[in-house]
Amino acid sequence: MAILPIVTYDDPVLTTKAEPVTENSEELQQLIRDMFETMYNAEGVGLAAPQIGRSIRLFVMDADPFTDDDEKQGNYGPKTIINPEITWQSNDITEHEEGCLSLPEVRENIKRPEKITLTFLDENFEENKLTVDRMLARVIQHELDHLDGILFIDHLGSFRKRLLKSKLRQIAEGKIQASYPLRTPASTSS
Ligand code: NI
Repeated sequence: MAILPIVTYDDPVLTTKAEPVTENSEELQQLIRDMFETMYNAEGVGLAAPQIGRSIRLFVMDADPFTDDDEKQGNYGPKTIINPEITWQSNDITEHEEGCLSLPEVRENIKRPEKITLTFLDENFEENKLTVDRMLARVIQHELDHLDGILFIDHLGSFRKRLLKSKLRQIAEGKIQASYPLRTPASTSS
């Protein structure tokens, strides 16, 4: 297994729509294992393939840190999600703070539908369907956005986004450190 460096804002891979995964392979299985190791090392609850520089529709997640006693219903814990599609979303919207391993030190309140239904392939390439709410729904929507080239800050209004401008510039220039390995646009272009 390997800990992979996490791509930071504003690498173009983070704003590119990722391609569907077309087949299972030993290479894919290795990538999934490496992504879990990378996510746990960074103490993240989700990691999408574009965040390690691979533009494919795959993410891993483990929302267990958000579990409270009445939510231990089996849906939290490690999950591999391939080629996901949201087939239904609630009209109810909730707001909660989010962060992203690709945007160290940035945390913002983001509004999202509270409940969603998702179809996807699991790590065995078997079709699955899930209806989830609260933090699980939030993590899935955040990670699925990554596959469409959308960052959580893209959900902010222009005023909030403007306040982040200098922080974002520092991240892009590789001036922000994290407790996990980063691959900044500055470090790859030189
Ligand atoms: Ni993220």
